[in-house]
Amino acid sequence: MKVTISVIKADTGSVGGHNRPSDAMVAKAKERVAEAIKSKLLIDGHVTFTGDDIALLMTHTRGTDNSDVHKFAWDTFVETTKVAKSQGLYGAGQDLLKDAFSGNVRGMGPGSAEMEIEERPAEPFIVFAGDKCGPGVFNHPLFSAHADPYHNAGLLLAPDMQAGFTFHIMDVNHTENDKVITLKVPNDYYDIACLLRDPNRYIIESVVENATGLTAAVASTSRLHNIAGKYVGKDDPVAIVRSQKQFPSTGEILSPWALAQFTLGDNRGSHHVAVMPVKQNTIISFFDGPTIMSAAGYCVHEGKLTEAVDLFDQPFWDVIREKASKKTLAMREQGFFNPAMGPQDEMEYTGVMENLKRLDAKFVKRDEPAK
Ligand code: F6R
Ligand code: MG
Ligand code: MG
Repeated sequence: MKVTISVIKADTGSVGGHNRPSDAMVAKAKERVAEAIKSKLLIDGHVTFTGDDIALLMTHTRGTDNSDVHKFAWDTFVETTKVAKSQGLYGAGQDLLKDAFSGNVRGMGPGSAEMEIEERPAEPFIVFAGDKCGPGVFNHPLFSAHADPYHNAGLLLAPDMQAGFTFHIMDVNHTENDKVITLKVPNDYYDIACLLRDPNRYIIESVVENATGLTAAVASTSRLHNIAGKYVGKDDPVAIVRSQKQFPSTGEILSPWALAQFTLGDNRGSHHVAVMPVKQNTIISFFDGPTIMSAAGYCVHEGKLTEAVDLFDQPFWDVIREKASKKTLAMREQGFFNPAMGPQDEMEYTGVMENLKRLDAKFVKRDEPAK
């Protein structure tokens, strides 16, 4: 059976700063998803939150970029915004950057990752949701899980996977329309590495298995400051990754997260910290961070979802959470000095740029040659 898995997420307000949505907001989203299942818009759905973002996981048969499904998600976020406003929550409607819905949430603020699949007899997949980071946070773990035998032993041990994977990578600095390059491992390994090393600009949009042409992973690529032209909150991306059999195993997909990679995000979207793999429904705390990533495992059959398995809720990840805290603290000791604070063109608040402009006028050029 052909099924579409859609994950659409947005920050529409939170309790205590940018920390988590209220119970009433989550309840409203759940109520709407239940109604949409009843009215047969969706086959199934789940509502979760990661930090201050609510994620709607939805299954249906309407294909990707379906305007009814996108409108449903948009209207749900309009409703959770109303709840947030009625409770006096902070940042109500933060990610709803446009006044009226126009067919697709892409380019309007909410992040989306969708794939249409022919269900395998057993169809396990993982939904990743991050807070206080940009979509480039998936570059390292998706590349490692699909291209690197250090993490994906299947690339050596499972004949199914040896033809490698194709990466669709977007240049998100090109805002007029989508600008995408298609490269394959193993052949283009170094070219892919050359792009992915800059996760603020080149971002994995999807991964496809070479042998079968099946979609292995999709990730949201929206960068809010590119849409709004100014800082309106970090992008806080989502990804859907299929696992097992012809794809990396669930454990191989999780393996790269043990690095606790440094990423740009955290406080004011402008600091490098280590990504902490967290349990579902984890809040934001230290320094408006740290940057967090949750992972929920599901199986889907005829569009019906199982309960979620909370993949980072396991004692192994306690050690990684401690490692991430230590790495973040080590970076934070450096305060505002680069690379603790991000590069100039990635400063999400305009203060630094305005100050530099003002100070530039006060610089004196010594021994300037006569004109
Ligand atoms: C980061 C984030 C927070 C805010 C910070 C200041 O994505 O959401 O770190 O940037 O709390 O928020 P405002 O400017 O809303 O007071
Ligand atoms: Mg927020
Ligand atoms: Mg957020």
